[in-house]
Amino acid sequence: MAITDSAADDTLDELLRNKARIIELPDDNNEDEVTGVPFPGNHLRKNGIHHLPQWLQQTTIGLFHDDYNTVSSEALDKTAAECLPHLTGQDNQGIPLNRHGLPHLQRKQHASFLHTPLKGLPAPYAAMDASRPWLFYWCTAGLSFLREDVSMYRERLMETVRPLQNKIGGFGGGHGQLSHCACTYATLLALATVGGLDVIDREAMWHWLGTVKQADGGFRMAIGAEEDIRGAYCAMTAITLLNLPLELPPDSPTREAGLTHFTDRLGEWISTCQSYEGGISSAPNHEVHGAYAFCALACLCILGPPHITIPKYLDVDRLIRCLTTLQTNPEGGFAGRTNKLVDACYSHWVGGCWALLEAAVVGPHEAKQNGSVSSAESRLWNREALVRYLLTCCQQPGPKGGMRDKPSARPDGYHTCYSLSGLSAAQNQYTYNTTASTTDRETGRLLSAFNWKGERASEGDMKGLSVERNDVVELVHPVFVIRFEAVEEARRKFARGGFPVVEGTD
Ligand code: FPP
Ligand code: ZN
Repeated sequence: MAITDSAADDTLDELLRNKARIIELPDDNNEDEVTGVPFPGNHLRKNGIHHLPQWLQQTTIGLFHDDYNTVSSEALDKTAAECLPHLTGQDNQGIPLNRHGLPHLQRKQHASFLHTPLKGLPAPYAAMDASRPWLFYWCTAGLSFLREDVSMYRERLMETVRPLQNKIGGFGGGHGQLSHCACTYATLLALATVGGLDVIDREAMWHWLGTVKQADGGFRMAIGAEEDIRGAYCAMTAITLLNLPLELPPDSPTREAGLTHFTDRLGEWISTCQSYEGGISSAPNHEVHGAYAFCALACLCILGPPHITIPKYLDVDRLIRCLTTLQTNPEGGFAGRTNKLVDACYSHWVGGCWALLEAAVVGPHEAKQNGSVSSAESRLWNREALVRYLLTCCQQPGPKGGMRDKPSARPDGYHTCYSLSGLSAAQNQYTYNTTASTTDRETGRLLSAFNWKGERASEGDMKGLSVERNDVVELVHPVFVIRFEAVEEARRKFARGGFPVVEGTD
């Protein structure tokens, strides 16, 4: 039907004259009609308890609901339905509430959950043999994010990973397994967390990394394995934390293609991973995923200052637009990709992108006075919503603790570690010092990743996020995802670069 001018005039006229047409949506009737999801928050308003934030008001939730049902939309509705009772405070699962009405962070329980696997695992965990370094990292780093002492694991971890280190350099997942970038990254970060970096053969690592560097600038995950953005981030993390020479080893096959440094063509290769959607894929022309955005951004923050390398190699506006669509409504956490479900681990993989992007966007303009790029005023994402999702939906109630993907999932080390790191990203402020040196003159080490500063949530921040001091997680380094102290120790330990001369050799 064509809408004539007069029909449009009538409608407007009618609206203006007939006040009865402008109706307020009822608060407690026909809830299911608005969203297709039962809305459980009304008891709060009736009882005058804590105020629900705007994005959890019944009328807001219904605004963008898609009526066309698909497998995906049904899964999305089911997830919203399982989360809403927790988000709105109808079901706190018996977790004690803080003074703002959100469940407290169950520090003791989560710490105990993360200590358990480090003491030994039951037989079914044999299936995770190839992921042992990851278990070490998630548990030790997660504990450190809770300010737990992990130094008692130093000797044991060093002895456990010694046989996972291959003679050709790098670490495999289990005994006799090929060196792999992901296992090497996880082992390195776990060792840095407990202060056990001495076990690493840095020179062999340098040689091995030279064999996974590719002529197009990227890195393979292992010799003969896939080339992807995780490899680039993991390799550059090892090179920088361990202060390995940036020059490619003489035996690196990539030298034949004319490359001389690990950084050669790397930024350009990362550019090719940005897709038409604006997001980042594992490799050119693959599907975009939030986790790969973190790898790309963190890798660029190792290459140089965020306000220089990120806009140089990525279309920042389009990346921001893509990542903002991953913060889900009504849950407030992040999904990994378009039209998929919220999952607590993306609190880090996507939540961790914002500090890096904020520093890229703000640049040195606002840093003139104190030399720092501030993210405090940035509203690129909803920190409050992420904190609410993690505290209300992702904490496993009961004495065993642990954090989980979503309420219907079981807790595990991976989700506990990355939920805590995501909480830290949302609660604290991370700034980049634009006036600090970016390269070490003596050794050539890339220093940009060491120029970050963390500031604990202020009283105002905590009030805005509805948390108390004890609900706030420690500062987590935005590029290396371990405690700042562990990063600083690695920086100092290898400041002189080079390789130790082994007696009896030339
Ligand atoms: C899909 O899983 C997940 C991916 C395609 C990417 C996962 C990548 C990471 C977590 C980054 C790893 C980084 C390093 C440094 C090794 P899914 O289909 O189960 O999940 P989804 O439905 O949430 O996308
Ligand atoms: Zn997950």
